[in-house]
Amino acid sequence: MNSQTLFPTLAPTIEWRDDTLLLLDQTRLPHEIVVEHVTDAAAVWRAIHELRVRGAPAIGVAAAYGLCVAMQDARGLPVAGFRAELERRAAWLDTARPTAVNLSWSLRRMTRRARECNAQDSAALYDALVDEARRIHEEDIALCEGIGEHGMSLIAPGNGVLTHCNAGALATTGLGTATAPIYAAHRAGIAFSVFADETRPLLQGARLTAFELQQAGVDVTLIMDGAAASIMSQGLVDLVIVGTDRVAANGDFANKIGTLGLAIAARHYGIPFYVACPSSTLDFSSATGERIEIEERSGTEVTHLAGQRVAPENIKARNPAFDVTPHELVTGFITERGIVKAPFERSLKSLFAAEGNAA
Ligand code: MRU
Repeated sequence: MNSQTLFPTLAPTIEWRDDTLLLLDQTRLPHEIVVEHVTDAAAVWRAIHELRVRGAPAIGVAAAYGLCVAMQDARGLPVAGFRAELERRAAWLDTARPTAVNLSWSLRRMTRRARECNAQDSAALYDALVDEARRIHEEDIALCEGIGEHGMSLIAPGNGVLTHCNAGALATTGLGTATAPIYAAHRAGIAFSVFADETRPLLQGARLTAFELQQAGVDVTLIMDGAAASIMSQGLVDLVIVGTDRVAANGDFANKIGTLGLAIAARHYGIPFYVACPSSTLDFSSATGERIEIEERSGTEVTHLAGQRVAPENIKARNPAFDVTPHELVTGFITERGIVKAPFERSLKSLFAAEGNAA
């Protein structure tokens, strides 16, 4: 099941049609449904950098197709020249955003496929790249399904589930990651409710999660980020499920700014705190979360609301887009192969020995 099955009136998050990459522009949701036709490398980089396509798994899929787009004008080159250009353009696309490991994971898979492909000419190499991008896309849909199947057991009738940012269908090409157990439980007829944090400053929770859950008929209530701990203190939350941009080998993980505060509050109130994590988001090359690069975005996202300045002129502002939550605060990771409990160093590796973005 993908976003189009869930929301028939919405365009798919990502589509590859007639050698063209189509992206649903997420900066325009929920008010407008605009599909961008991405036709060159610079446009791919900008779409990722400016969050028109966002969410770790969607970034990975968009980058894979995006690299195909970027290589279309190189099909006339000799094979060696094509391969050299591919490495160069992949390295450049990898600079579009730093935190979600899915970006470099997907680009590495694409360049490896080209290295291992015994093609006679660049056109055949290009076809192999498109084939690999399609695989990454199909796998992403399956990863979400797996997370849904395993995670739905956590949701009981009458539960309140809290989530942050958008780790939903819009952040992937399938059911989402944090939302996959929610959609699976909803599909199974379980009655429960969801609290969606608005997620300042770019409001992915309000614009995207509240939107997609509402469209799918899930009972969802939008709350301010600052209300989450208070809602927990009232006994309204039985379970927190968030997504992630990168999980280190020991289970420390990066996710949208505000996740760390939620994890601390959940621990204080004894609420289980789960992280939905497809294997494409595991980064075994980072031993801990200490070295995960955190994207720092423009301070104007903090000083302005909907284009209007709300803070004093010349005020200093910080805008880290992500934070790192230590593994001690995680109850479990919901993966496509099952729910993983501490010690994560061992449990994650034993389930994903061959994966994990190892360098
Ligand atoms: O800045 P964004 O909107 O790309 O941040 C997205 C998140 O933090 C998601 O929780 C994460 O990428 C997981 S998406 C399945």
